Amino acid sequence: MQNIQMVDLKTQYLRFQKEIDAAVLEVLGSTAYINGPAVKAFQASMESYLDAKHVIPCANGTDALQIALMALGLQPGDEVIVPAFTYVATAEVIALLQLKPVMVDVDPKSFNVTSELIEPAITSKTKAIVPVHLFGQSCDMEPIMSLARKHNLFVVEDNAQAIGADYKTSEGTNQKTGTIGHIGCTSFYPSKNLGAYGDAGAISTNDDELANMIRMVANHGQNKRYYHKYVGVNSRLDSIQAAILNIKLKHLDEFAAARRKAADFYDQAFAETPQLQTPLRSGFSSHVFHQYTLVVKEGDRDALQAYLKENGIPSMIYYPVPLYEQEAYKESSKGIEKLPVTDYLCKTVISLPMHTELTDEMLNYITDTVKGFFK
Ligand SMILES: Cc1ncc(COP(=O)(O)O)c(C=O)c1O
Repeated sequence: MQNIQMVDLKTQYLRFQKEIDAAVLEVLGSTAYINGPAVKAFQASMESYLDAKHVIPCANGTDALQIALMALGLQPGDEVIVPAFTYVATAEVIALLQLKPVMVDVDPKSFNVTSELIEPAITSKTKAIVPVHLFGQSCDMEPIMSLARKHNLFVVEDNAQAIGADYKTSEGTNQKTGTIGHIGCTSFYPSKNLGAYGDAGAISTNDDELANMIRMVANHGQNKRYYHKYVGVNSRLDSIQAAILNIKLKHLDEFAAARRKAADFYDQAFAETPQLQTPLRSGFSSHVFHQYTLVVKEGDRDALQAYLKENGIPSMIYYPVPLYEQEAYKESSKGIEKLPVTDYLCKTVISLPMHTELTDEMLNYITDTVKGFFK
């Protein structure tokens, strides 16, 4: 058996090597390194895949969030609601823009924020909500959108981990995550479900005016060269990454299916292990399993991780520390004692290897080893 990896980028690359190498060489030969045809083609394929009116590619997922918030014209001191159980980037861009991140707890089964958890945190200063579709599954967006309408708030979806997931609306239709709120932000960091071979990201919106602002903000605040209406940033997707993403986007649904197959294997294997909580499959969202994350309900999570390591199995703790306990965010989260679910999850979650190249042999070995720990 090959070594088990948390994410196997190499084997997946080898499957598409011929096509990817040719596409990269084409960009090199074209010298259209910035905003070349590959970027325009990727933008169009992404708009069609997401069924979004506008996709604005940018340099990474963190920039996508920052640009989205800048485009909303928020003022210093405005409050933005975010989950306390997320990757730091979600809150970081808020703090960076001198806005106030207001952290709320998450649901213990889905790991996501809900409208019920968000509502009590809304004040007269609240201007936006950033729901994060954590680990590959959508938040329940309809109640969040109606709460936002009621309080006149913007919704910026952090879709970095859930690209390709379908949210099932109450009308029975499917809507891609990242196209439900006013703006959606995603990351194509190499280990993401749609991973580039370097940094990359994108912003989506169905609103023409917002799209125009987002394009300007991402391009030094200009829409006419050398005429700068706003203070912006420089955040571009480079043509080489776009060419790679163009090829991989065609396989994104197939990647999600491979991840789901591995997740089904894990679920079945752990069905009789009462010490573990397996990931919830919510009725309103498909799961694209960016991560397969267990909760160790009984037993020592850190001892399990050490045991897996001894047996050659990598695992990760996403995330070990609540955002409000991070040194950089202590000041902005003054008043938060503890959010009980976030606190509990940080102590009990563990993510197992999850990628498109896991074999049954690997999955058998991983699940037998995990179960062996609890025997
Ligand atoms: C939830 C979440 N938000 C934002 C980001 C930031 O994306 P990037 O690393 O491309 O800046 C990531 C990924 O790293 C993420 O997981």
